Amino acid sequence: MDRPATLARLSDAMPRPAALIDLDALDRNLDRLLDALHPDATLRLATKSVRHRGVLRRALSRGPRLKGLMCPHAGEAAWLAGHGFDDLLVAYPTVQPGPLDRLARAVADGGTLRIVVDCEAHLDALERAAAAAGAVIEALVDVDVSFRPGLGAHLGVRRSPIRSPEAAAALARAARARPHVRLVGLMGYEAHVAGLPDTARGARIFKRLARPAVRRLRGAVADALIAEGVPLTVVNAGGTGSLRWSSSDPTVTEGSAGSGLYCPALFDGYVGSALEPALYLALEVARQPDPGHVTCGGGGVVASGAPGPDRLPTPVWPPGLRLLPMEGAGEVQTPFALPRGATAPAVGASVLLRPAKAGEPLERFAVCHMVRGDEVVAVEPTYRGEGQMFL
Ligand SMILES: Cc1ncc(COP(=O)(O)O)c(C=O)c1O
Repeated sequence: MDRPATLARLSDAMPRPAALIDLDALDRNLDRLLDALHPDATLRLATKSVRHRGVLRRALSRGPRLKGLMCPHAGEAAWLAGHGFDDLLVAYPTVQPGPLDRLARAVADGGTLRIVVDCEAHLDALERAAAAAGAVIEALVDVDVSFRPGLGAHLGVRRSPIRSPEAAAALARAARARPHVRLVGLMGYEAHVAGLPDTARGARIFKRLARPAVRRLRGAVADALIAEGVPLTVVNAGGTGSLRWSSSDPTVTEGSAGSGLYCPALFDGYVGSALEPALYLALEVARQPDPGHVTCGGGGVVASGAPGPDRLPTPVWPPGLRLLPMEGAGEVQTPFALPRGATAPAVGASVLLRPAKAGEPLERFAVCHMVRGDEVVAVEPTYRGEGQMFL
């Protein structure tokens, strides 16, 4: 409990609500992710789960096994390229001319920026943007590796219509007809495995069944692409929740991880993970409605995804605080129940929360307070603080 106490004390002097990043914990988390990574694979940082340029820069400086960024948005990749980042992989397709034109111009300027595709409309949009910029854009086939045990069941996310080696081969042939688009690999992100904590009901059995199918399909698609003359320069897989397993697949050249840097509360449920919290939110105790409660200003940082109590932030300081079921993480104020017999934190003191997910809470904050040891060593802008937002 020492760390939250120290961070809460530091945050007493900050304008709150505040976001704090514990740089010591962040460094250790990076080391643990690299430990989990197979020695033959490199690690690509998922920017969606970071949303802070300074953190991305620090992380990439930790050695050659960290290689490149994965962006959810083509416009974000182009923006980062303008700030000197290279080897950017856009993991979500678009046909919008604006972001694709910026991406294509960054490629024409000599950057390595790639994007996933899964249909001819994506190829057409890329071909147009790349031809206009005088560039050749490299693309990856995005493969849906969800678990489909039969009878129409689909256990996984809805990413791509490419679900077979034949479909991937057909897309590779279609790409050959676009001279400004070149396929150079595949993405086979097993979100249904990576995003399922081991502590969830049935998770271990589900993972045991689902994993072999992921590996089989990734391998078969890779073979089909090679047969079509596609070089497998990049075969991307994984997330924080599956890094060790996915990067050990011999087909895979790189794993992705982002959430593991901050280790938000949803990542506590993975067996064997020694990650530690590195991102906190601090609220000011604004009033004490009665001896059993304190009420803070702000607090409504609820995570995306299927709604449920696991999307709420977790109070970590003072110990034992609980959100109220009637109000949850409120909008302009958030009440907390105190443990029986506890002394209420004073008006003006800080309550510390851990967000449920990484990255997206920083959309609410212009700056992060960067802590090393017992000191705030910098106050740095988030994407939002830089006037950027990529959703
Ligand atoms: C396609 C893809 N792969 C991997 C990741 C990494 O996930 P995580 O933040 O859980 O490490 C993400 C999430 O950002 C993603 O969108």
